[in-house]
Amino acid sequence: MSNRMQNPDHLRNIAYPDSSRLNARTEFWQRFGLNADQWYGWYFGHFSPPASARILEVGCGPGGMWDWGLANSQVSPTWDVTLSDLSEGMVSEARDVFSPTGREFTYRVADVCELPFTDGSFDVVVANYMLYHASEPGQAASEISRVLTPDGSLYAATNSESHIKEIVDLQRQFATTSEGAVYASSTHEAFTLENGQGILSEHFQQTEVHAGESMAEADDVGLLVAFVESLDVDVDAARLTDHLKSHIDRHGCFTVTRSSGLLVATHPTERAPRPGG
Ligand SMILES: C[S@@+](CC[C@H](N)C(=O)[O-])C[C@H]1O[C@@H](n2cnc3c(N)ncnc32)[C@H](O)[C@@H]1O
Repeated sequence: MSNRMQNPDHLRNIAYPDSSRLNARTEFWQRFGLNADQWYGWYFGHFSPPASARILEVGCGPGGMWDWGLANSQVSPTWDVTLSDLSEGMVSEARDVFSPTGREFTYRVADVCELPFTDGSFDVVVANYMLYHASEPGQAASEISRVLTPDGSLYAATNSESHIKEIVDLQRQFATTSEGAVYASSTHEAFTLENGQGILSEHFQQTEVHAGESMAEADDVGLLVAFVESLDVDVDAARLTDHLKSHIDRHGCFTVTRSSGLLVATHPTERAPRPGG
């Protein structure tokens, strides 16, 4: 296990006991980057489960994809959807979001590296912005492959190496400890658009990569500081605030790279053998 953003106890109790840190980043992209309509519109354009699909989401968080999908008629009423997450708090938030809607989902607390499902239980697995948190991304890919049917597909959104590189620079510059400065770049490096295909190729016969890059031009110092602080490195917030204020005074905004995309993997190799096969 290489860093604390891949440590299940840290993720459960510090990073994601609830969605507050995640929400700081979601709000940032909503205001200054690709907004939810643009991102999920693009995502659902690639998402094509069969009508009767049994779908498992791992690392569902508060269920943003399904919230947008239901509001925009992108979720087929015939899909049978299970939402799972390592964090009990996240699963409970997702339940609170969807219970009032009347749309039935199944909920499970589960670690993607040890899925509590039998072989070949799902036609589709969704793993968005979470495989870099798995203690062993290869083990997570193996488990996902195992629970998929022979024709099943994995949809895994993730970031590229250059994603938020300006924020990572701020973390390095304003970290309160040298350990924090070194750690800054490692948030998503365990599973990126660049190395993800190699990891999945051990467990799937085919993987396609769909990538996109855009720039966010932000002028809200408070939201920028919240973004930096949400990424698990202690920073000197007062110095960072002064730095960002003077940067925005001079340049009008602070530019952040958003570079992410989707890996679609098919033909799982660790699937259950066909009956009689
Ligand atoms: C960056 S959030 C992404 C949430 C959601 N998929 C989305 O796209 O909005 C990462 C989520 O993965 C969960 N997570 C982290 N490690 C996990 C693991 N080993 N197994 C399952 N879920 C995990 C976290 O609790 C958190 O909810």
